[in-house]
Amino acid sequence: MKKEKNILCIGAGYVGGPTMAVIASKCPEYKVTVADIDEKKIKAWNSDRLPIYEPGLSDLVKGVRGKNLFFTTDIAKGIRESGIIFVSVNTPTKTFGEGAGKAADLQYWEKTARAIIEYAEDSKIVVEKSTLPLRAAEAMHRILHSNTKGLHFEVISNPEFMAEGSAIEDMQEPDRVLVGGMRTANGKKAMDRIVSIYSHWVPKERIITTNVWSSELSKLVANAMLAQRISSINSISALCEKTDANVGEVAKAVGMDSRIGPKFLRASVGFGGSCFKKDILNLVYLCEYYNLPEVAAYWEGVVKINDFQEKRFVKNIVRNMFDSVAGKKIAVFGFAFKADTGDTRESPAIYVSKMLLEEKAELSIYDPEALDNAEKDLAGAKGRFELVRDPYKCAKDAHAVLILTEWNEFKKLDFRKIYESMEKPAFIFDGRNILDHKGLYKIGFNVFPIGSSKMSHFK
Ligand code: NAD
Ligand code: UDX
Repeated sequence: MKKEKNILCIGAGYVGGPTMAVIASKCPEYKVTVADIDEKKIKAWNSDRLPIYEPGLSDLVKGVRGKNLFFTTDIAKGIRESGIIFVSVNTPTKTFGEGAGKAADLQYWEKTARAIIEYAEDSKIVVEKSTLPLRAAEAMHRILHSNTKGLHFEVISNPEFMAEGSAIEDMQEPDRVLVGGMRTANGKKAMDRIVSIYSHWVPKERIITTNVWSSELSKLVANAMLAQRISSINSISALCEKTDANVGEVAKAVGMDSRIGPKFLRASVGFGGSCFKKDILNLVYLCEYYNLPEVAAYWEGVVKINDFQEKRFVKNIVRNMFDSVAGKKIAVFGFAFKADTGDTRESPAIYVSKMLLEEKAELSIYDPEALDNAEKDLAGAKGRFELVRDPYKCAKDAHAVLILTEWNEFKKLDFRKIYESMEKPAFIFDGRNILDHKGLYKIGFNVFPIGSSKMSHFK
C-alpha cells in the first residue's frame, strides 16, 4: 500500500479511537493505524473490552480491526509508514506556570511534533484533531520545519465536533466537517487530500474549508456557545426556583422561537465533560493575552455560572435535609458527565460527591458504565463511599437519591420499591429533571427538581 493511503493517528483516546474507526470503515482503501504511548489502552483497543464505552463503537471496531484498522504502541513505525498523520492527543488546562488554570497545556502535543521530526523520512501532512489554541498550527508548522532533514510538512486544522455518547452517529453524519489550511499551493493540495477522505461519506456542501486560524477559533467558539446556552438556562433555573416559574416551560417557550431553537436548553446540575470548561478557559486566556478583558470576562461568566449551579445543588440538599447530611446514606444515581458514556471527566457528580463527603455523608454510587472512573475520581476518600452495581441496593436505607446523569434507565426504575426500602422522610434531588416528579411525590418522596418548585410533604 502506498504511503499516501496510510493514515496514522497519534492518540488513541475518546477522539482518536472512534474517529479512526469511522474513517477505516468508510475508506476501505486506506490503512489506518492508531498509536498511543499508553500500553494498557492499546491492549484494550486490541481486545474485546475496549477502553471506552460508546454506543455502536464495539461493532464498528470489530468490523475493521485487523483488516484496515490497527492499534499499536509503535509510534516510530507508524510515522515512518504514513503519509497523513492525525494528532489527537490530550490538551488539558495548564496546571503550572504562565497561564495556569486557563491556557492549554501543549506538552503532549509538542512531543508528538518532535516525534514526527525524529522518525519521519519523507514529507507528510499533519492534521490537528486535538482542540488547540488559536495559532497552534503555526507553531506546529515552525517546530516541524526546524527539522534538519529538508522535509516539508503541511499542517491542517481539522477540529472534531463529536459529542460523547453519540460519537459514532455524530461522525457518520456530521453537521459539518471543518478543514483549515494555509492558502498556498501546497496548503490547498493538502486540504484537498483531507477533504477527499471525508468525501467518502460526507456530502460536499457539509465540508467547509477555511484558513487555519478560523478553523482553530471556530472549535473553541462552538463549545463556548453550546456551554453558554446551558449556563443561560441554568441561571434562569435559579430564578425559577425563587418564583413559581418552571424552567422546562420557559425553555420550551423560548426554544420554539426558530431564531433560538430548542437544543442545549436543558437545565441541569451543571455541564461536565473534558471539553467545555477547558475550551472556554482557553478562549478566556486568549482574550486576556490579546488585551480584551471585557471579552474574557464575558466568557468566563459561563464557567462561573456552572460553578454556581453545582454549589447551589449541594447547598439545596443540605438545607432541605434539615441542615445536616452527616452520617446519612445518600444514593448517587449516575456518575458519568452525561448519559451513554463511562467518561467522568469534569462530571458534576465529582464535585457534588466531594462536597457531600466533606459534609460527612455516606455515599452509595450507582452508574451503569462509570463506576471504574468514579473509583479513581474519589480515590482520596476511600472507605467513605461504596460503588454498587444495582440501583435498588444502592438506594436501600438511603435518606436521599440524587440523579446526576440523565441515563434513560433511571426513568424506568420502580420508584415505589425504592421508596419502600429507604429511610423516611425520603428525598429525591433530580439534577437532570428526567423523572416524573408528580408521580414521585404521590409515592411519598419529597421532590426537588432543578428550576421549578419543590414538592415537599412538610409544610
Ligand atoms: P484522551 O485523553 O481520551 O486521549 C488522548 C490520548 O493521547 C491518550 O490516550 C494519551 O495516552 C495519548 N497521548 C498523549 N501524549 C501522547 C504522545 N506523545 N504520543 C502518543 N500518544 C499520546 O483525550 P480525548 O478526549 O480523545 O481528546 C483529545 C483531543 O480532542 C483534545 O484536544 C480534546 O480537547 C479534543 N476533543 C475531545 C472531544 C471529546 O469529546 N472527548 C471532542 C472533540 C475534541
Ligand atoms: C461537547 C460538544 O457538544 C461537542 O461538539 C464537542 O466536540 C465536545 O464537547 P460533550 O462534552 O461530549 O460534547 O457532550 P455534550 O452533549 O455537549 O454535553 C456536555 C455537558 O452538558 C454534559 O454534562 C451534559 O449533560 C450537559 N448538558 C447538555 C446540559 O446540562 N444541558 C443541555 O441542554 C445539554
